[in-house]
Amino acid sequence: MQSDRISDMATPSSRDLGRALCIVTGASKGYGRSLALQIAHLLLPRSVLLLVARSADMLQALQVDLVPIVEQAGLLVRCVPTDLGLKAGIDTTVRVAKESAAADTDHVLLINNAASLGDVSRFAISFCDPAEVDAYLSLNVSSALSLTAGVLQAFPQRPGLRRTVVNISSLCALEPFPSWVLYCAGKAARNMMFRVLAKEEPDVRVLNYSPGPMDTDMQAQAQSCSADPALKQSFSIMHSQGKLLSCHESGAKLIRLLLEDEFPSGVHLDYYDL
Ligand SMILES: NC(=O)c1ccc[n+]([C@@H]2O[C@H](COP(=O)([O-])OP(=O)(O)OC[C@H]3O[C@@H](n4cnc5c(N)ncnc54)[C@H](OP(=O)(O)O)[C@@H]3O)[C@@H](O)[C@H]2O)c1
Repeated sequence: MQSDRISDMATPSSRDLGRALCIVTGASKGYGRSLALQIAHLLLPRSVLLLVARSADMLQALQVDLVPIVEQAGLLVRCVPTDLGLKAGIDTTVRVAKESAAADTDHVLLINNAASLGDVSRFAISFCDPAEVDAYLSLNVSSALSLTAGVLQAFPQRPGLRRTVVNISSLCALEPFPSWVLYCAGKAARNMMFRVLAKEEPDVRVLNYSPGPMDTDMQAQAQSCSADPALKQSFSIMHSQGKLLSCHESGAKLIRLLLEDEFPSGVHLDYYDL
């Protein structure tokens, strides 16, 4: 049995994430879903958990799974079924966040998790159409910046308010993976965006967290579609040898970082560094 429960680790400096407004993008499945379930246990009464993704049915299924925690802890969960690749999706998410947050919210926690792998079945020299590249960057780069900006504007700095922004990053932000040009470029750009944010807004706690290879739909796409044979094989071997992480164990490390709240703002931390 894996020792991946927060309670199995050394005691973090805080036991909860406060009376929070917590926004998790890409909450309908995979890592975002797992994070939402773990975070819900750490929110104080009257906290709000906003679940954002396109699939309304899958968000509602998560909302149902959250009912026992929500009732016990006195939380409000709201689903925001929307496409974050569109301006309307950003605007809706910010509007619902403003409408839902309790007046005595003491922590705004935004987890920019939603992403796509892009077409990994081709190499860089095949991307001749800028519209295709723009469409990828719209979700994977632009929306993360615009949503973060909208949320930080909606909840400006004030005494007693903690503001935390997490960018779910990847080793691909730092290392080139052949046939993953869109994904690597997007993750690299996101890292730098959030590093700039950390410099500009010293009160905002900014974390680029690389969760490690996890057993999700995105990982399945990597295994089946990557054009680079060596990369494709390495992911398939990780899968067959049971070396992929569970979303829960990677999430537990991220949550521990958030509870301790000691990371230098803007830093990139990887699951395997911790
Ligand atoms: N899995 C890995 O091995 C791995 C490794 C390193 C980093 N990561 C990162 O971890 C994060 C989560 O990945 P995952 O593996 O959980 O991926 P996943 O299983 O493919 O889930 C992606 C999530 O993003 C949402 N999403 C996609 N397009 C969207 C859009 N246009 N608007 C709103 N939401 C959208 C999806 O929901 P809908 O389809 O319902 O919209 C889904 O909830 C990503 O940032 C990924 O880059 C993953």
